[in-house]
This record gives sequence, structure tokens and C-alpha cells, in this order.
Amino acid sequence: MPAISASAPGKIILLGEHAVVYGQPAIALPVTRVKVKAIITADPRSQPGRIHVQAPAIDLEANLDELPHTHPFKIAVAGTLIALGIKRAPACRIRITSTIPVASGMGSGAAVAVATIRALSTFLGHPLDNERVSAIAFEVEKVHHGTPSGIDNAVVTYVKPIYYTRNQPIEVLQVPAPFTIVIATTGIASSTAIAVGDVRSAWQADPGRWELLFSAMGKITRNARSLIETGQPFKLGDLMNADHRLLQELGVSSPELDHLVGIALEANALGAKLSGAGRGGNMIALVRMEDADMISTALLNAGATQAIITRVSG
Ligand code: PMV
Repeated sequence: MPAISASAPGKIILLGEHAVVYGQPAIALPVTRVKVKAIITADPRSQPGRIHVQAPAIDLEANLDELPHTHPFKIAVAGTLIALGIKRAPACRIRITSTIPVASGMGSGAAVAVATIRALSTFLGHPLDNERVSAIAFEVEKVHHGTPSGIDNAVVTYVKPIYYTRNQPIEVLQVPAPFTIVIATTGIASSTAIAVGDVRSAWQADPGRWELLFSAMGKITRNARSLIETGQPFKLGDLMNADHRLLQELGVSSPELDHLVGIALEANALGAKLSGAGRGGNMIALVRMEDADMISTALLNAGATQAIITRVSG
């Protein structure tokens, strides 16, 4: 049997992170320049049911039955088998490779889950549809993040710009005028679960004030949607700057993120903000296409460990 492979892209959140956990909308974009690939080969010499996993990027090499039940990988595989009504898979080896920076807010955990679910369901002869892939990946996200909104698994599964509100159908965004984003990695690992937990504690202590911040963020995201869908993405910069200020008030920025935001704006970006959970991870900047290389270089010179240019189109 030939090897079966499937891949899943990275992602960024353009606007609405954290507020999305509290029912506000958010916009997420796939980043196809980085990806996770899952390759599955049959292992006919091993006992049926034996699944060997190798994922060098996260230092994992094990037989699935040696992993705890709460391991994200085990949940992805178990969720796939349950969805297909299969009790025991034929013995196989799953190898995961990735170019997505880990713990940087680029959705690497969701991408590992989505690539694995797609490859495994295809290997088993019944490729799952997007809705079911995303639902299983959401269960994996719960292990990574505690109380995820579901946005990461959705954008990584659908590989389209999405407008996402918790517990509502995913809306694919029309992007009549493409735009360019530079993503700069601080090199500081950020824990989404901790940042989301801290925001939750602060909200519980003073719900009135935090609800105001979340609804201001929601308003920004709704305005951004209309700018994107009416072909005016170059006007998103001011909204990104305003959203970054609100994220600072939420306490999820960091000196490194603020520094990179300042560098991007000095270098002529149209707007810049942290993206994802914050405290580390990534900064994103909206740029004119012709400025993208120059702004990437400025960010790398200022300490970013990686800069990725991504073009967003419908
Ligand atoms: O996985 P990250 O770092 O992109 O963060 C996800 C965005 C949050 O809104 C902070 C959490 C969530 O589940 O939506």
C-alpha cells in the first residue's frame, strides 16, 4: 500500500483574539507558506492496532498505546477511529513533519491534529469531511488550550479566511482585493492556556470593565470584515493599531511584542498588532506589497527570530 499523506497550514488571527472566547467575532487567516505534513505507511509486520508515531518537531517517538489518554495525538487518532466506527486500525506508522513555529500562535497544534485526522481517515478508506475534521481537531484543541473558542481548528481545516463567532456556522470571507501581512515571531514561547486563563480571572474579578473591552474588540472586527469584503483592506491598519491597544489593556502584550509593533510602524507598515494569545508568539503587520521585504528585514534586525510574508486572497 502506498504512503498516504495530508497537510494542514499555519494560521494567524487578524483581529478578535481573546474577545472571541467571550462570544465576539474574530477573523483568522490561513498561512500556507508554513505547514504540517502527516505521512502514514502500513506496517504489515506489526500487530493490528499498533500505531507508531514519529514527530521530531515535538520530540515525540512512541507507540500510541504508550501515550496517556489525554495526549493530543491520541485524542486525534481515537476521534478519527470513533468517527469512522473502526475499533482497530491496521498497524501503521505516522510521521509528522512541520515548518510551523511551535507555541507561537500559528496554530501548529491544530495543524498537527488536522493533518493527522485527514491522513488517517484517508488511509482507512473514508476521508472525513471538513466539518468532522474540524470537530475532532476541536477536541484536541481542548487539551492544548483548556477552553478554546474553536477558531484555530476551523481556519486550519477550511484553509480560507474565516469570520468566526463561537457556536455559529463558520463564514468564509470574500477578499476581492488581496493584501499583504508580515508575521514576525518574537521567539518567546507563549502558552495560550495561561494567557486565556489570566484573561478569564481578570474578567471574573471585574466583568463590567472587561465586557466593554471585548465589545470594543468585536466592533473593530465587524468593521474590518466590511472593509475586507468591500475591497478596502488597506484601511485595516488603524483598526489593527486600535485592537493592539485594547490587547495591551487586556494585559496580553509584552515588551517584545510592543517593540516589534513599533518597529513595523516606523518602517512604514499600515498597522500592526500582536496576533494570537500574546505574551510572546507573533506580531503581524499590514504592509504595502512593495514594502514587505524591507519591513521583514527591519523586524529581523530588531530581534524577530523569523519573518514570514503572506499574501491574503479569497
Ligand atoms: O492559539 P493562539 O495563540 O492563536 O490563540 C488563540 C486565540 C485566543 O482567542 C487567545 C484563544 C481562542 O481559543 O480563541
